[in-house]
Amino acid sequence: MAQKWSPDSWRSKPALQLPEYPDAAALAATEARLASFPPLVFAGEARALKDDLARVCRGEAFLMQGGDCAESFAEHGADNIRDFFRVFLQMAVVLTFGASKPVVKVGRIAGQFAKPRSSGMETQGDVSLPSYKGDVVNGIEFDETSRIPDPERQIMAYRQSAATLNLLRAFAQGGYANLNHVHQWTLDFVKNSPQAEKYAELADRISETLGFMRAVGMDPENNPKLRETDFYTSHEALLLGYEEALTRDDSITGQPYATSGHMIWIGDRTRQADHAHVEYCRGVNNPIGLKCGPTTTADGLLELIDILSPENEPGRLTLIARFGHDKVEHHLPELIRAVQREGKNIVWSCDPMHGNTISAAGYKTRPFERVIGEVNSFFDVHNAEGTIAGGVHVEMTGKDVTECTGGARAVTDDDLGNRYHTHCDPRLNADQSLELAFLVADRLKKSGRTASGKQEAA
Ligand code: PEP
Ligand code: CO
Repeated sequence: MAQKWSPDSWRSKPALQLPEYPDAAALAATEARLASFPPLVFAGEARALKDDLARVCRGEAFLMQGGDCAESFAEHGADNIRDFFRVFLQMAVVLTFGASKPVVKVGRIAGQFAKPRSSGMETQGDVSLPSYKGDVVNGIEFDETSRIPDPERQIMAYRQSAATLNLLRAFAQGGYANLNHVHQWTLDFVKNSPQAEKYAELADRISETLGFMRAVGMDPENNPKLRETDFYTSHEALLLGYEEALTRDDSITGQPYATSGHMIWIGDRTRQADHAHVEYCRGVNNPIGLKCGPTTTADGLLELIDILSPENEPGRLTLIARFGHDKVEHHLPELIRAVQREGKNIVWSCDPMHGNTISAAGYKTRPFERVIGEVNSFFDVHNAEGTIAGGVHVEMTGKDVTECTGGARAVTDDDLGNRYHTHCDPRLNADQSLELAFLVADRLKKSGRTASGKQEAA
């Protein structure tokens, strides 16, 4: 029998990656304030996402999850959110068209503020200071005061999340996502790229289709599906005090939900079965993500699946594979087979970012060809196993940054310093994001053909 769960039962477990606040009373006062604030999302929305992910689980939809590695207070502005949303919509349209399937849209946004770090300390010259752990914890500036964890930052993160979510809801429901605007989503700096040309062709086809539909009486004015979209939020549930304070019982079902975002996930460094992060996540009813890396074993994974998804409900658990381009073919098949053997209902998603980080010219970067390589191998493995490649999970931005190398408009090692703005890991820029979407769309088209071929043969 599982031990009784409560929003604070994680406190009795070992916990990695949590900051040490110097002033425990100030922290408790902040958490009490947060606990009195309104929820950021509603349980009903989290349930709707779970239903959508159940469709992904059955192969009827595709998951696209993406956004900043870490959101920052300094870059909080309408333009950033809008540009991200535009690229995200473009990618989703490319995928929907390619896969002829609905795309479940989940942003790493409106709450993605806490970062796990490989090392607790950062050294520059002969000075060592505690590492930056995300704007919700401490400051990125390399000085002693900035690096002290400050509880007040949790209130700022909550308020920024609320404002971001408000704008995203307006974009998603208020007309911006209307398919009639499919041409206008292209960002100026992308306009001359090969991706933009490909996208413009696709947008022309969509416009043509909309013209036909209008002629037979179906238009965005009388069809909400054509003028609105569902957009969900997600983040790593790392800062457990913050998550606990925003846990609420749903008034309809009486069940507890994390109301800090629709979906939360457990990172690769904090997925120990008997530790605090798994404890917190097992008790809330949101869709949960679990990162799987090279150290994930089949038995360890099955244990985690039993803890996190004891009812085996489709849509509850998404496994986010992040092995590295050269490791995925070695690790993934065994995990897939274990999951299949035990009849577990899970969504498999591919994070081609976190296993492919290298250093070049003094920057943390990710070569685009390795990102693409991991995605391709992920699809190859699923095709070979006869299972469903359900989604992708990427770090991306709508800005014209130079953080990942490569891509059709190649960013070189020497370019990295030009516009390297990330607060944590390197992100795909708008061009690279679109390029990835076209590649995934191609793979989905091919998998669709193989799957229907198999059905016909059976
Ligand atoms: C992340 O998603 O930003 C992250 C830290 O990933 P992982 O836990 O897979 O390393
Ligand atoms: Co990251």
